[in-house]
Amino acid sequence: MKEQSLLLIKPNAVRNKHIGHIVTILEENDFHFCALKIFRFDRQLGELFYAEHKGRAFFENLLSFMISDDTVAIIVEKDNAVQELREIIGDVDPEKRKPGTIRALYAEGITENAVHASDSITSAIREIGIIFDKQTN
Ligand code: PPS
Repeated sequence: MKEQSLLLIKPNAVRNKHIGHIVTILEENDFHFCALKIFRFDRQLGELFYAEHKGRAFFENLLSFMISDDTVAIIVEKDNAVQELREIIGDVDPEKRKPGTIRALYAEGITENAVHASDSITSAIREIGIIFDKQTN
């Protein structure tokens, strides 16, 4: 069944000029692009997007990283998009990342981990709504 998911190319990957290669990896994996934008998180948008992590020890670090530079957001579509995108980005935990995944290639730690992908269809709908319907242009 065709699904949509959200990929974020995070500030460290943007700074390090990896947008092009990450987009190529998505194309090589047959993801269709529905929408794409570049924007910068502010605190308010970051707190909304990462609301489930509020109160965790890493939350402040995560927010200051996410507002530190531009982010690229891409709505992708494919059969089983949510699960397939999670597989090609690789694990949050550096020890568990498979070679060849986007995070194995471009993450610089657990926070500066190059990309985010929605973890469920419900999260994808919520995150796409936040990033593409709000005033982030
Ligand atoms: S978990 O198991 O709940 O911690 O992981 P997850 O929900 O997949 O993602 C957590 C997001 O927070 C970012 N982050 C960190 N996670 C764990 N530990 C530390 N120290 C940490 N710092 C930042 C992590 O990159 C995940 O961000 P996203 O954008 O969702 O990938």
